[in-house]
Amino acid sequence: MADPNQPTDRSVSRRDFARLLSIGGASALLTDRAFADGSTLDAFGFTSAPLPPTPQAPDEKFWESVRARFLVPKDVGFLNAANLCPVSLPSLEAHERNMRRYEASPSADARSELMKGREEARTLLAAALRVTPEEIVIVRNTTEGNNFVSSGLQLGAGDEVIVWADNHPSNLAAWSTKASRFGFTVVTVPVPQGHPGTAGYVDLFAKAITPRTRVLAISHISSNSGDLLPAAELCAMARQRGVMSLVDGAQAFGVLDLDLGAMQPDFYTGSMHKWPCGPKEKGLLYVNKAVHERIHPTIVGLYAGAVGISRRFEAEGQRDDASIAAVSEALKFQGGIGRAEIEKRSRALATYFVTELGKLDGVRMWTSTDATQRAAIVIFQPGSLDPRRLVTALAQNDKIVVTGRANAQDRPGLRLSPHFYNTMADAERTVAAIKRYMASGV
Ligand SMILES: Cc1ncc(COP(=O)(O)O)c(C=O)c1O
Repeated sequence: MADPNQPTDRSVSRRDFARLLSIGGASALLTDRAFADGSTLDAFGFTSAPLPPTPQAPDEKFWESVRARFLVPKDVGFLNAANLCPVSLPSLEAHERNMRRYEASPSADARSELMKGREEARTLLAAALRVTPEEIVIVRNTTEGNNFVSSGLQLGAGDEVIVWADNHPSNLAAWSTKASRFGFTVVTVPVPQGHPGTAGYVDLFAKAITPRTRVLAISHISSNSGDLLPAAELCAMARQRGVMSLVDGAQAFGVLDLDLGAMQPDFYTGSMHKWPCGPKEKGLLYVNKAVHERIHPTIVGLYAGAVGISRRFEAEGQRDDASIAAVSEALKFQGGIGRAEIEKRSRALATYFVTELGKLDGVRMWTSTDATQRAAIVIFQPGSLDPRRLVTALAQNDKIVVTGRANAQDRPGLRLSPHFYNTMADAERTVAAIKRYMASGV
């Protein structure tokens, strides 16, 4: 069986990716010099100055000013948020500042300042999700959050866990691995042909529940189709049947204006390095206070968090406190723009792709054409073009970064994931380039 941790032929590996987009010339100069001298940022049209207030109806000029707070060279159309996002400049600079401050004065006081930064990050995470800081664990990434749940619940022979076949390996293979160790059973719900609607999804999972079901483990948004699942309805359905819910929010946190207080999952996970545009290797595990007593910590050590569940779940030993503290700046940056505005903008860009690509002869859309059934991931088959070759051509000739899905059996094609740093010009030239390749071949 293929190792789920390795890139498969489904996608272009990260190494291919770096090679494809070999950044040279002026851009390389920028990355080397940007931090030695703030004025270098200006020279390249970037700035870390505070953003102007978000207008009532943000226009293209406003979104271009957002774009100027990301170091990705301006001529690169980065449409790969679902994989890994660029860090917003305020967060990147906070990370660097925090690190320098501590390295220049490695005292207990400097350390405790960084620890305060961690608690501020927790408070801001809770506010962004509309829950309490006592329910937030700052983990490494979604993978760790999902695994803390599958390893931490007391499950054994006779218990069943329902997973969705479209889950990421950290919420799919992880459950099977633990099932063989602890003796519980995993029931896999298949991927429907197209988005079946709210009632259809609820019905699909409800049918799999039995008196032995303990957990329903789903994804908020599928990274393989872009389907937005009715998470609130699914969590409510599970709760009514006494089943705990884990919602993997890796493709939702940072792009949707989430309200976990209303959704009421038992567990929700996400990564700061994806849509929130924060520091790498920082993530979130939300644990509803209703289940604090039902889950055990997987890692037990020193340097726990200060409140609630973090006192038991965050004692992970020495960590990169400078980057944890920089989570705050990423959240403030998005919060300052407005999470509802970010969601609207990203959805509008995705809608542009669905509409315009849908007009091209031969395009098969895997993502729902109903805007309420998706967020900002668009997956489509570009006629008979080889996805790998198309990804390469777009990167090399057009400086457009997307992900390819090359497994002919499973929704082959391209994945475009636009975000609030993309301009309309990025979107227009991407459609134009795809149209050109569909006419001429690659
Ligand atoms: C749905 C989903 N869950 C989890 C992950 C894993 O995220 P991370 O590598 O940040 O742990 C991904 C990554 O793409 C994902 O799409």
